[in-house]
Amino acid sequence: MPMRKFIIGNWKMHGAAAEAHTLVEAVAEAAAKAPQAEVIVCPPTTLLAQVTSWLVGSNVKTGGQDCHAEAEGAHTGSISAAMLEEAGAAYVIVGHSERRAAFGETNDEVKKKAQAAMGVGLIPIICVGETAAERDAGKAEEVVARQVSESLPKGHFLLAYEPVWAIGTGKTPTARDIESMHAHIIAVAARETGLARERIFVVYGGSVNAANARQILATKGVSGVLVGGASLKAEAFCNIINSSE
Ligand code: PGA
Repeated sequence: MPMRKFIIGNWKMHGAAAEAHTLVEAVAEAAAKAPQAEVIVCPPTTLLAQVTSWLVGSNVKTGGQDCHAEAEGAHTGSISAAMLEEAGAAYVIVGHSERRAAFGETNDEVKKKAQAAMGVGLIPIICVGETAAERDAGKAEEVVARQVSESLPKGHFLLAYEPVWAIGTGKTPTARDIESMHAHIIAVAARETGLARERIFVVYGGSVNAANARQILATKGVSGVLVGGASLKAEAFCNIINSSE
């Protein structure tokens, strides 16, 4: 039996309640017809509890977009993993390149966040990926290997390969480049964790849309997709869910 594919929508800082409701209803309907997909939506934290409640009875899960590494404390503006869990999340994205770039998050911090998430029963989606300059310098594999080996916690996690230059740009790596980087990530993660390669799941993210999802999802070593822009459009995201057959 083929593995289920993860179809993850990262709404980033988008979404008001009214439009989110329409979107989520469409996503739940598409997911009901796609038992082969594990569909996850990651709304802004303010909408997390509400979106989760709209999805009760569906097979769509929710996730946070980040969490703090500590359980609680004087961290104005931050959200702990336990808070996300209480709001209904099952997953949380950690180490997204936008956070690594804008907030200077290091691999070590990402690992601590992932550990905090697992500590409350959330599955962390740990993002890695090289910049255009790193790829041009022939350092993509080296950079990604370091991110993987330094960011991985012990336990149950998902990895997301998101080349920074592919996020929101409309550019995607070739299928061959995706396949080879996913194989590389799986090998590094297996070595670091002692897990069997079949137990390591790597989703691809960066300009996934309705037109390219089927080919990306069919690429060897790709266990799903992490979708930004196209996850905000009901038709596009539902098409991506359908592409997971
Ligand atoms: P994109 O974003 O699909 O808009 O490129 C992906 C992501 O940042 O997770």
